[in-house]
Amino acid sequence: MVPIRLTEARETLLVTLYGRALDARAAHPVLGDTMAAEAVDAIDFDFRRTHLTPRTAPTVAVRAKFLDGWVREFLREHDGEATVLHLGAGLDSRVWRIDPGPGVTWFDVDFPEVIEIRRALFPERPGYRMIGVSVTDDDWLAQIPTGRPTLAIAEGLSMYLTEEQGLTLLRRITDRFNGGTTIAFDAFNRLAIRTQRTNPAVRMSGATLHWSVDHPRELVRDVPGLRLRDAVDALTAPGAEQLPRGTRVVSSLLRPFPAVRHMSRYLRYER
Ligand SMILES: C[S@@+](CC[C@H](N)C(=O)[O-])C[C@H]1O[C@@H](n2cnc3c(N)ncnc32)[C@H](O)[C@@H]1O
Repeated sequence: MVPIRLTEARETLLVTLYGRALDARAAHPVLGDTMAAEAVDAIDFDFRRTHLTPRTAPTVAVRAKFLDGWVREFLREHDGEATVLHLGAGLDSRVWRIDPGPGVTWFDVDFPEVIEIRRALFPERPGYRMIGVSVTDDDWLAQIPTGRPTLAIAEGLSMYLTEEQGLTLLRRITDRFNGGTTIAFDAFNRLAIRTQRTNPAVRMSGATLHWSVDHPRELVRDVPGLRLRDAVDALTAPGAEQLPRGTRVVSSLLRPFPAVRHMSRYLRYER
């Protein structure tokens, strides 16, 4: 069994991993990530602490499936010749779900302690590298080759950064990679940050959420060179019909309120 000693933001990866594992074990999975279920079986951790249940787990799987869709679309748009940076990858097996061809170089990036656990759980694969750093470090991007279409994808990461850290990261990515760059991530608004104590990952880990993106277009002002391609409400995005019934009922009742509609969004920018 792989022991886990993670705290705060790092520990939250266990919540999303367990969500995907529960989904994989369901009779009709949304995502069907069997590697997540195998990883959970190999980890020495009391996953009951996540408070996720088979009923609530689809919340995690629906988000992962939506963002997988954007990764596939990017690779299609660039004929499978690209670099993918998966930031705050945690123990997500996205690279195996997407299973990119030989023209893709894929980097999974997370804190060194997290990458150490990844190495113990997941096999190597051609064209795939793991980098153990904080995405807020100033020089790690120098390791990533330039000159090819590049996708930076992050799921469940932006809210753990401060606004300054998030904007600096976006500026560094847009500075390093030129045309053909896409940056895709999910973001919370101010209401989601204010009500963070209701978030299972925050409750379990004691992590603090910081960055809220209330107006996706503002990032275009703050990060030179960025263009907004999509801002999609998670509650009504394609695939949201597979969210847990309770979430769908509450979401349809509260849909008239923009602050609720925009609590969690999928954002896609281009350079
Ligand atoms: C909620 S988990 C999501 C993990 C993964 N994306 C998933 O969906 O399962 C948040 C992840 O962000 C990572 N993270 C938070 N701040 C980070 C930073 N400054 N640098 C690198 N990774 C970070 C954590 O270690 C953790 O793996």
